[in-house]
Amino acid sequence: MDKIKVTGGTPLKGQIRVSGSKNTALAIMPVCLLTDQPVELSNIPNVSDVHTLNTLFQQHGVDASFKEGVVHLQASEITNTTAPYDIVSKMRASFWVLGPLLARMGEAKVSLPGGDAIGARPVNFHLKGLEVLGADIELESGYVIAKAPNGLTGGRITMPHVSVGATITLLMAATLAKGETVIVNAAREPDVCDLGECLIKMGAKIEGLGTNIIRIQGVESLSSVSHRIIPDRIEAGSYAVAAAISGGDVELLDADCTHIETFLNFLRATGTAVDKSSDRIRITAPDGRLQPVDITTEAYPGYPTDLQAQMVALMTLAEGTSTITEGIFENRFMHVPELRRMGAKIDVQGKSAIIHGVDELVGAEVMSTDLRASVCLISAGLKAKGDTVVSRVYHLDRGFENLEEKLKACGAQIERLKS
Ligand code: EPZ
Repeated sequence: MDKIKVTGGTPLKGQIRVSGSKNTALAIMPVCLLTDQPVELSNIPNVSDVHTLNTLFQQHGVDASFKEGVVHLQASEITNTTAPYDIVSKMRASFWVLGPLLARMGEAKVSLPGGDAIGARPVNFHLKGLEVLGADIELESGYVIAKAPNGLTGGRITMPHVSVGATITLLMAATLAKGETVIVNAAREPDVCDLGECLIKMGAKIEGLGTNIIRIQGVESLSSVSHRIIPDRIEAGSYAVAAAISGGDVELLDADCTHIETFLNFLRATGTAVDKSSDRIRITAPDGRLQPVDITTEAYPGYPTDLQAQMVALMTLAEGTSTITEGIFENRFMHVPELRRMGAKIDVQGKSAIIHGVDELVGAEVMSTDLRASVCLISAGLKAKGDTVVSRVYHLDRGFENLEEKLKACGAQIERLKS
């Protein structure tokens, strides 16, 4: 297993181009299952999760290719409606094939994704919503077996709690259902909006994207589409933290600052300068110490859980105590023991990390436990004294395109140690 070595002490200086959003790409790629027409998606990041999804598509009979940031997908005929355990357990976004397969084929058998390092992550909202649309759902030997032999029918779904994943499943499924579907308490994340925009280009009738009530009028069929994926707001936020913690000055290119307003406001509150223009964000670290902030992660437009670990890393060096509360997942502080190995002073009390800022971090061997935890440890390593070696970087490779090259171009001393 590869590791990444970071030698701390060099402030990042330069420009970083933000890639297309990994999470949005994974949400949108399954639209290919809703139509027999070609689907072309650009600004797709070259990360392992995208390849995993293409492998799954091939099992369903989809013609899938990826080249230079563009995926071409065509499901002229769906030859198999089963999404097997070995792929879905590797990447839970695979579960998003359930809605489109069921809507188009009237049946689907998809492995339950199971929990992961950040929480139990059930899929009950996805399943309850599909039942409202008339699906018959059974669980058998770890698989969801969904049937709607006469097609899905629109209905009113009230989500007990905001869920990005369930909103995506139900939005896709409802496009081909008979009549109107209303999703109440829908997720407002940019991933959901971009998916909706892509579906509208395919002929879907959707209103209310970006609000908490989405209305979908089902249509008979969807057509071909060419769509560009939005920039990755989590990648942008991660490099903003890397710039701030290293004491640097970095311009993020091709970023969409409207998607990370809340994060940028908190970053400013740390004393970091944030200058925005239409598609660029300049991040300049403060001359003196970072200031502490108190944050709770929330559904969009609140502070994103996917930027929680990075902010914990930044606050380890603040002048004072910060409290960062995880409001989405029950177990998302796995990076804390690793940061402590680097000299951070953090207490975890229930859902909150109380971070007592220290004067310096010291390089150590640490282990990444999930995608966002990996980039948190790399950021900490950029400022730590000496070498930090981050293991299990396959987590990082799932979602960050060319991270070492992007950081190196800004002066970071970072290298991959091949196993
Ligand atoms: C998506 O996960 C993202 N994944 C996550 O990013 C992100 O952290 C999360 O949304 C929140 O923004 C992808 O885009 C691939 P949820 P998802 O359904 O859809 C509970 C990353 O690092 N819940 O909004 O799985 C759930 O357990 C990843 O890129 C249920 O109880 O998140 C959680 O506590 C990690 N029942 C909360 O809702 C359900 O049926 C929000 O989860 C569904 C969710």
